[in-house]
Amino acid sequence: MHTVPEDHVEPTRPVLVNDYDSLAEAYDAANETGIQNAYYERPAILALAGDVAGRRILDAGCGSGPLFAKLRDRGAVVTGVDASAGMLEVARQRLGAGAELRVADLREPLPFPDGAFDDVVASLVLHYLEDWGPTLTEFRRVLAPGGRLIVSVDHPFAVYGIQLMEGRRPNYFETYNVTEEWTMGGRTVPMSFWNRPLHAMTDAFTEAGFRISRIGEPLPDPAARELFPDEFRSLSNSPSFLFFVLETG
Ligand SMILES: C[S@@+](CC[C@H](N)C(=O)[O-])C[C@H]1O[C@@H](n2cnc3c(N)ncnc32)[C@H](O)[C@@H]1O
Repeated sequence: MHTVPEDHVEPTRPVLVNDYDSLAEAYDAANETGIQNAYYERPAILALAGDVAGRRILDAGCGSGPLFAKLRDRGAVVTGVDASAGMLEVARQRLGAGAELRVADLREPLPFPDGAFDDVVASLVLHYLEDWGPTLTEFRRVLAPGGRLIVSVDHPFAVYGIQLMEGRRPNYFETYNVTEEWTMGGRTVPMSFWNRPLHAMTDAFTEAGFRISRIGEPLPDPAARELFPDEFRSLSNSPSFLFFVLETG
């Protein structure tokens, strides 16, 4: 019989606070066609990635798979991981039975060997993590020599500005939690994320062994000007997201 020593303590895994499972289909529909993802964030990531034909790419926090699909269309060999089984179900419908998709929490070690990928893309996921250190160390481990990490996150000044406009006075220099209510597909759920100062981001990248190759603040795709005139104007004056290309070594 297997006995558990009395002093044995099961490791506790912090639970994910955000219920992406219940939003999966509605989030996917908004992401597929809305200006923020379809005409701003995704084109920017693809432009930073450049020619990806033949590259082995880990889409970390792949959600319902729209970026995975675009990278695969461009000839990359893509693997997607996400903590939300619901988001991965939608990804499976989009990408088909053969797509390499796994449930994985980016706060835990990744289920891949050292050097398995040429690029890791982390699109709009890192701001859900309070501590970037272990995750970035894992990204560094699974990248082959010369590999790249391509990141988009909520722009720290944009989040800070919204907090000020809403009457809160967070300390810019701290990493602080923000909880918003998202209403999608008739459901309202709290969404919690972490805002951190720019220097905390760049320090985390360099401490994990990355060299910063590019910091991007792109403009939205001009094709969105007529489709979303107000949001286009707003994004043309103030950014929502911040982008990084990091290199190993
Ligand atoms: C804003 S969505 C972005 C999805 C996708 N990257 C895109 O741009 O379409 C954030 C995604 O991060 C995932 N996520 C949040 N925390 C995570 C964690 N700790 N580990 C893995 N995925 C996580 C969510 O389940 C969700 O699918």
